[in-house]
Amino acid sequence: MKNLLLVENPLVKRDVTILRDKNTDAAGFRAALDRVSFSIAIEIGKTFELLEYTVETPLEKTIGFRLSKQIVLIPVLRAGLSMVHSFLKMVPDARVGHIGLQRDEITLQPINYYYKTPKNLEKSITILLDPMLATGGSAVSSFNSLKKKGVGKCILACLIAAPEGVIKMSKEHPDIDIFSASLDRELSPVGYILPGLGDAGDRTFGTL
Ligand code: PRP
Ligand code: URA
Repeated sequence: MKNLLLVENPLVKRDVTILRDKNTDAAGFRAALDRVSFSIAIEIGKTFELLEYTVETPLEKTIGFRLSKQIVLIPVLRAGLSMVHSFLKMVPDARVGHIGLQRDEITLQPINYYYKTPKNLEKSITILLDPMLATGGSAVSSFNSLKKKGVGKCILACLIAAPEGVIKMSKEHPDIDIFSASLDRELSPVGYILPGLGDAGDRTFGTL
């Protein structure tokens, strides 16, 4: 799984445990999701390239740095919305698009219901935000749509990945790195990640 980069540290592991725990309420779930997303954002940020420029401190001129590319965040509705706030803390001037997908409960195929992204994606780094990579259908479909629009460099940020989804992504989009806080065991027969955390959208928004 060369395309998978696991973001693992003691604080992330503690927070993933809070997310997995069925007794965590929506407030605790959102708070832990926020913290893990921020750790992932920091790891992704380490891959960004910089441009040098001269900045004046109150005392003298010195070398400063800015990101070489604009950042675009694309949360996959609904659950991906919960990661936006943390990523914006890292890149406050990021532009934000939205892709609305709903997995059909029987076929597990993603149904597209909304698509709105910023223009000129080819010059930016586009980060797709979705806490769950299960079959990989939603991520693959999102990147298919983005590539049709001429997207440039892309990254997938998730919290929990299933091997099935990582493998599907590596076949369909081998150019895209996946950052995840966990690689779980497998998918259940009805497409849930095991051990997983249940339905990320329902747990985030209290729609259980
Ligand atoms: C969840 C999740 C992903 C998708 C992952 O969304 O947020 O988008 O499932 O599954 P896949 O890898 O098999 O495509 P869901 O369809 O439950 O919608 P929601 O976020 O609105 O609850
Ligand atoms: N979507 C979720 O929210 N959870 C899963 O386990 C799989 C897909």
